Amino acid sequence: MTREPLRFCLVGGGRAGRVHAKSLTGHVPGASVVAVVDAHAETRQRVASDFGIPHSFAELDDALNQGGFEAVVITTPTFTHAPLAIAAAKAGKHVFLEKPMALTLGECDAIIAACTAAKVRLQIGFMRRFQPEFRAAFERITGGEIGTPMIIKSLTHGPGLPPAWAWDFRRSNGMLAEVNSHDFDCVRWLMGADPASAYAEISNFKGAARGVTELGFYDTALVQLRFANGGLGSISGVCPCDYGYDARVEIVGEKGIMQIGDMQGQAIVVVTDREAGRVSPVYRTWPERFAWGYINELREFADCIRTGRQPGASGEDGRWALAGVLAATASFTQGRTVALSEVLTTA
Ligand SMILES: NC(=O)c1ccc[n+]([C@@H]2O[C@H](COP(=O)([O-])OP(=O)(O)OC[C@H]3O[C@@H](n4cnc5c(N)ncnc54)[C@H](O)[C@@H]3O)[C@@H](O)[C@H]2O)c1
Repeated sequence: MTREPLRFCLVGGGRAGRVHAKSLTGHVPGASVVAVVDAHAETRQRVASDFGIPHSFAELDDALNQGGFEAVVITTPTFTHAPLAIAAAKAGKHVFLEKPMALTLGECDAIIAACTAAKVRLQIGFMRRFQPEFRAAFERITGGEIGTPMIIKSLTHGPGLPPAWAWDFRRSNGMLAEVNSHDFDCVRWLMGADPASAYAEISNFKGAARGVTELGFYDTALVQLRFANGGLGSISGVCPCDYGYDARVEIVGEKGIMQIGDMQGQAIVVVTDREAGRVSPVYRTWPERFAWGYINELREFADCIRTGRQPGASGEDGRWALAGVLAATASFTQGRTVALSEVLTTA
């Protein structure tokens, strides 16, 4: 792998921004962060000082005018993604954009079009695709070990409330977008097929007691999906769940069952033989659930920029995850199963 220097501008220095700043400055060979943009003065100064970033700006346009970097990593709130990503692409910068890709499918299309026109790479922050046990599971499924996937159940339960902007449905698309975008991407990736319909129910147990009064807020969701190949899926979302960060997937295939992750650490458990009950566990320990996913996704991004390859978590993938969120949202709002074609045609 070539290690030619790559200079990044970090846009947004909050929770996700700090994770990516750490990866880029410590774990991506040849990468450096030369500028940080954050609307909040104290935040941008702290990130610049903590990670040794020489330049800081209040607005992306100022950073783009100064230049001196090849790529941006955008980790601002969801409602700001589209204008920032499009501005960066128009300035010829490669774009790493956090999930959820945007608020609407129209915004996703505009981001993809801007990146395509500028011939820059676009990668969405679906780090599970680069987390070792998720990657290994994907390869073992596509290698045929458990046969064709019939049912995929994915859950993400987050410990605490996200930042306040995400409580407002109009700025985040709700918890299914903020917390469960990863599940929507993951079930589609592992199923190897696009979702065809969604049915969802939501509930709100803890919001009021935590001071969340935003209209439309929910902290609990269950989604049922049907895929174009006949496969079935479910997504469970709870935030805040309080007990920890819990992300697990179960895949029932024609020949066996596979589990990704457990509550205590990281593991893949595969059972392939009903008679012998053969189980092959692969355990890994790491204090933070997706630490390697966050590092590897930026290594992937750097490699794609250097080689011209298309990233493994594309704008199309981001668009499909959002389409799933929008169909599930229409479902619980209208109390019926919603076909994906309904939300795709109103983009
Ligand atoms: N991949 C993951 O696992 C993961 C984890 C957490 C968050 N995220 C995503 O990352 C994004 C940011 O979430 P967060 O939790 O870090 O939010 P945050 O509120 O902690 O940080 C956002 C930062 O962006 C700054 N900001 C807001 N508007 C701006 C603008 N126009 N220009 C420059 N800076 C601006 C804010 O001042 C703030 O410091 C969201 O899309 C979220 O869904 C992804």
